[in-house]
Amino acid sequence: MSTLIEMTGISKSFGKVNVLKNVSFSLKKGEIHALMGENGAGKSTLMKILTGIYPKDAGTIRVRGQEVEMNHPKEAEQMGIAVIHQELNIIPQLTVMENMFLGRDLCYGRTGILRTREMKKKTREYLAQLGVHLDPDTEAGTLSIGQQQMIEIARALSLNAEVLIMDEPTAALTDREIEALFKVMKGLRARGVGIVYVSHRMEEIFAICDRISVLRDGMFVGTEIIKETDLETIVRMMVGRQLGDRFPERSVQIGEERLRVENISDGKVISDISFSARRGEVLGIAGLMGSGRTEIARTLFGIEGKTSGKVFLDGEEIRIRKPDDAIAHGIAFVTEDRKSQGLVLELSVRENIALTNLEALSKNGIISPAKEAQLVRDMIERLNIKTSSSEQTVKSLSGGNQQKVVFGKWLGIKPKVLILDEPTRGVDIGAKKEIYNIMNQLTAEGVTILMISSELPEILGMSDRILVMHEGKLAAVMDKTQATQEKIMHAATGGK
Ligand SMILES: Nc1ncnc2c1ncn2[C@@H]1O[C@H](COP(=O)(O)OP(=O)(O)OP(=O)(O)O)[C@@H](O)[C@H]1O
Ligand SMILES: [Mg+2]
Repeated sequence: MSTLIEMTGISKSFGKVNVLKNVSFSLKKGEIHALMGENGAGKSTLMKILTGIYPKDAGTIRVRGQEVEMNHPKEAEQMGIAVIHQELNIIPQLTVMENMFLGRDLCYGRTGILRTREMKKKTREYLAQLGVHLDPDTEAGTLSIGQQQMIEIARALSLNAEVLIMDEPTAALTDREIEALFKVMKGLRARGVGIVYVSHRMEEIFAICDRISVLRDGMFVGTEIIKETDLETIVRMMVGRQLGDRFPERSVQIGEERLRVENISDGKVISDISFSARRGEVLGIAGLMGSGRTEIARTLFGIEGKTSGKVFLDGEEIRIRKPDDAIAHGIAFVTEDRKSQGLVLELSVRENIALTNLEALSKNGIISPAKEAQLVRDMIERLNIKTSSSEQTVKSLSGGNQQKVVFGKWLGIKPKVLILDEPTRGVDIGAKKEIYNIMNQLTAEGVTILMISSELPEILGMSDRILVMHEGKLAAVMDKTQATQEKIMHAATGGK
């Protein structure tokens, strides 16, 4: 098979931090090549160098045998390299169609008059390939993250590139959409497209990839053929040690009822939801995208108003009209969309962690620097956040490390009820386990956790009980002893 991309001896530093050290990577025609490594290993940086976003400090890039300099993303696009970035590049104020054709509108000749009808048709076609049906005139910002991600993927497909780079494309997708995406990827592979696939989901790597390359701390560890390797080998290559079980043993004593939700509706997505959760319990919330999982969280946290229903905490009815009310009652929420709701990207790791913990850290409105430093140090260490110092801006952290900061923000306030929406999205396998350990530690202290997740192994591995949502309603409640992947999917897709 002929080689599409050959990167050799690539090095890159940001300031004094040496992020890539003499890395080699190659991509063949008609292969899906996984690129793996822990958060901060350098995967996105390597792909950004390949696509002309960052200049390299050293090394060579060959495209179809030809040595090239990539100075601009447009040049990569012209060479037939398309990329779906880890950070969504959708502009919320624009429509689905406008996002699809951003910077390359179809016009009549050189008149500048837009061929709107054709662009809409193409938008629908490419989305349909992915099994998605969206109105091209919808404002992108009103869509879920998963739907926005689908626009990005459709946009990349529409470029008809020979090389497609996908940096964690499935992080925000549900199983059904991932299936549709895999089908499209296999079709592209059959046509000879080379795909670089970055993901932290091990199941996916074995399901779809042909080869895998691993980076560790900015260094190239090796390339393996998927059929000839196994999970343990890959994990060892990534973290440099054996990891043991993916989900830690849970042996928490479950206590009295803490949270009770009676018949809540938001007048839009969810209706008539009732459940309760006890101290020390992890209540998993499963369901397809759009089934109302996130809306339950948003309503409980006071982001969304409810039109009916009651919420009780420790037996007493509480009224939550805004997030501040929820926080005052000891309810914390780690959102799925860390960019718009979770983090202030321009601020440092320290400031982001301290922000949520102001009350605990201050006396008469004055922050105690010593306490703050202690908390921040504690969080960086517990979560193994890869940062040059507590003063690094969150914006310049790798995707997974940003997620860890979101987590760190909320751990400090010692909530009674902790709501986690996709807590390990984009987090590497070692850090995932760390987050599970912290969840177990918190529940051992009596915290109640509601965990929304699209990863069924995670739901099954960590929950004591599981709620399954379907079209805004509670479709099933299962004990972990009876739950299986099939049963959850059955309920989530409307089976009785
Ligand atoms: N613009 C930047 N300025 C400074 N440091 C940066 C910048 N971009 C990345 N880094 C640093 O480079 C390292 C590698 O980051 P990169 O985003 O490539 O990791 P990754 O392997 O993609 O991780 P993840 O799985 O979390 O997405 C990280 O330590 C990160 O903090
Ligand atoms: Mg990355």
